[in-house]
Amino acid sequence: MNRKRILFVDHVSKVLGGAEINLVELLGLPALRSRWEASVACAPGSPLETSIARAQIPRHAFGLSQSLNEMRVVGRRFSPFRAWKGWREVHAATRRLESIIAGARPDVVISCTNKDDLIAGNATRHSGTPNVWWFNDILSPEFFSWPVRRVFVQRARRQAARVITVSEFARKVLLDQGLSEDRVTTVHNGIPLDRYRRIQSSLLRDQLRIPPGEPLIGLVGRITPWKGQDFFLRLAKDWAGQGRPGRFVVIGRAFNEDAPFEASLKRFVTAQRLESRVHFVAFQADIASTLSQLDLLLHCSTKPEPFGRVIIEGMAVGLPVIAAAAGGVSEIITPGVDAGLATPGNSDAYLAQMTAILGSAEKRNAWSIAGRRTVETKFTLERVFQDFDRVATEVMAK
Ligand code: GLC
Repeated sequence: MNRKRILFVDHVSKVLGGAEINLVELLGLPALRSRWEASVACAPGSPLETSIARAQIPRHAFGLSQSLNEMRVVGRRFSPFRAWKGWREVHAATRRLESIIAGARPDVVISCTNKDDLIAGNATRHSGTPNVWWFNDILSPEFFSWPVRRVFVQRARRQAARVITVSEFARKVLLDQGLSEDRVTTVHNGIPLDRYRRIQSSLLRDQLRIPPGEPLIGLVGRITPWKGQDFFLRLAKDWAGQGRPGRFVVIGRAFNEDAPFEASLKRFVTAQRLESRVHFVAFQADIASTLSQLDLLLHCSTKPEPFGRVIIEGMAVGLPVIAAAAGGVSEIITPGVDAGLATPGNSDAYLAQMTAILGSAEKRNAWSIAGRRTVETKFTLERVFQDFDRVATEVMAK
């Protein structure tokens, strides 16, 4: 059987976001190599490129200009000037991708972020190569201005052979905006179970000088306002104010455009004198070992979460998780059984659940076992690969 030639497109240059981690892990799956001949159009020198090089997957140089990199597609405000500036550069990027496609002659092009979708949609037009959009967002007013939503839906209708959403929630939002049922397929995130398991290590705790026995509560993910790092810090303040033991750690980094938000978080910690309670650490190379050192993982997104990768990462290592009940999260968690759900942005709801879970070893143990189970049955990387392979077969047949 011939291997399918699949070209992935992801321009992200400075950090690995959820979309990029999904991609790196998928490409690392041994089963993929026997069925797919994969290559990736990505920014030279980016963390994504480095990770893919390690997996010995062929790369094609595909970087966007600085201003296009910094252009916000996600965001409620729409700036016509920025859009016009961005548009001209999209054109150049499209030409570049076209020549990559002409060289690699893929059977399917899978674009991984919304900017890449718009570029790949155009770039595949002449060759007629099917283009699958791996859409890690939710196309709702909470995240996108209406001009962007309109352009996206119109282009998806004309140019996307299939849109992959990461939750049923995100899929419904697209269907409500007029995409047809057969055009949109949900592929929930999945992770390699052998990598995400409990690991004995005290590296992080030692580095932060946290005495054994003191609870360590973490928030992991890209630093951006809607992921709720500011809410997490307010929880830390309330918790500390009640004289309870525990440290709080924000793990992750900001993309270019969110640097000011990150700075404001650090100012808050100083102003509230929380330095002895709150820590910031960059993304960790070995996330499983980092998660293994936490006692509780909070997910604090204040807008509906497209999926919530970090939640299954936590559950897989047996870490208790309390997550914001919105978006795709409810498709992961059975509340009170394998993890906890709280109303987004409601500190009382979070504090009550935190108190309950940190106060009961029995409950923690039950969540830990059930959480791992949930990931093993529904959120494995093998399942993701099978879903993608099926979609690829379908779009190639058209
Ligand atoms: C984005 C989304 C997150 C999702 C991840 C991978 O980071 O915000 O919900 O899990 O992509 O799909």
